[in-house]
Amino acid sequence: MVSTLDDTKRLSIARKLAEMRSVQDFLITNEKRFITSVSDQKVRERFQSMLEDDQKNLGVLDTAIVQYGVRAEPSETVNQMIQKAEEMMSGSQLSLFEKVFQHEALKHQQVMTGLLIHKAAQKVGADVEAAITPINTVNFENRAHQEQLKGVLEVLGVRELTGQEADQGLWARVQDAVAALSGVAGSVMTQSSDKSDMNLQDVIRMDHQKVNVLFGEIANSDDPRKIEEYFGQLYKDLMVHAEAEEQVVYPAVRPFYGDSDVQELYDEQAQMKTMLDQIKATNPGTQGFKDAVNRLKDIVMDHVRQEESTMFTAIRNNCSSEQSEQLATEFKAAKDRLQQQMSASMK
Ligand SMILES: [Fe+2]
Ligand SMILES: [Fe+2]
Repeated sequence: MVSTLDDTKRLSIARKLAEMRSVQDFLITNEKRFITSVSDQKVRERFQSMLEDDQKNLGVLDTAIVQYGVRAEPSETVNQMIQKAEEMMSGSQLSLFEKVFQHEALKHQQVMTGLLIHKAAQKVGADVEAAITPINTVNFENRAHQEQLKGVLEVLGVRELTGQEADQGLWARVQDAVAALSGVAGSVMTQSSDKSDMNLQDVIRMDHQKVNVLFGEIANSDDPRKIEEYFGQLYKDLMVHAEAEEQVVYPAVRPFYGDSDVQELYDEQAQMKTMLDQIKATNPGTQGFKDAVNRLKDIVMDHVRQEESTMFTAIRNNCSSEQSEQLATEFKAAKDRLQQQMSASMK
């Protein structure tokens, strides 16, 4: 098996995710500037609520990036585009209307990038779709923001051109457009509305589900190249998940879950890691490869069942929801660190 496990298509999606994150960051900077420079209270309130959504969605994007498990930097083109836009937005040449006009164009770009990632994921694999599900909320909210920005542009544009106020009823119309969008997006919104404060059990379960999808993809494929790609992802996901549990979760649960149960989890993961390395050195086109993956699957699923039954119960009984959410944050941060180390060591 080749030593670099990064598949080109997966890497391209990772790059788009990184670019979406950079643009999201820039949108936030702009909105903060608009809030301090706009005197119209109604317009300011729009930007305020948009800013709150966008800050929450930056967190959602971070979660999706860690969950996706492949790292890339934004392209130079996007970096330069943001730099140019920053010069325009912070300079004094453009009127407020023109700046909001640029902002709306960036929102549009963000919506299209999000949709593109969503469509591309459907082509690459079910595990990719599972990992990036949270960004559907970001897409829908950005789409709703576009409608609100159209309203803001109308108000500011009429004022700049005529010195008069736009027609009454404008905000009601914008609200209707947003409501129509939320209607379409309703199920997605509610499904992931609390993504920003997931507890430890939620984030661990999400990883377990993704691993399960990857085992399924390997079992259902006869194409050695696809099998290699899926295993490459499985290898990274399992290594990072196990290591992050050993750094954050197991030490935290040991006092109430007990030494012997925690030791069992450590031992199983040691065995898992050895098997992963053995399989990695095997030819993915052989029956031996699939047999070894099946043995690994049995061990991983046993291990997962123990974590999701007795360990989760122990966490529920001994940690407050704040503590469990705090552990979730630390667990995600550990995964983030480990993924970056892993992609650096593969270069
Ligand atoms: Fe584990
Ligand atoms: Fe686990």
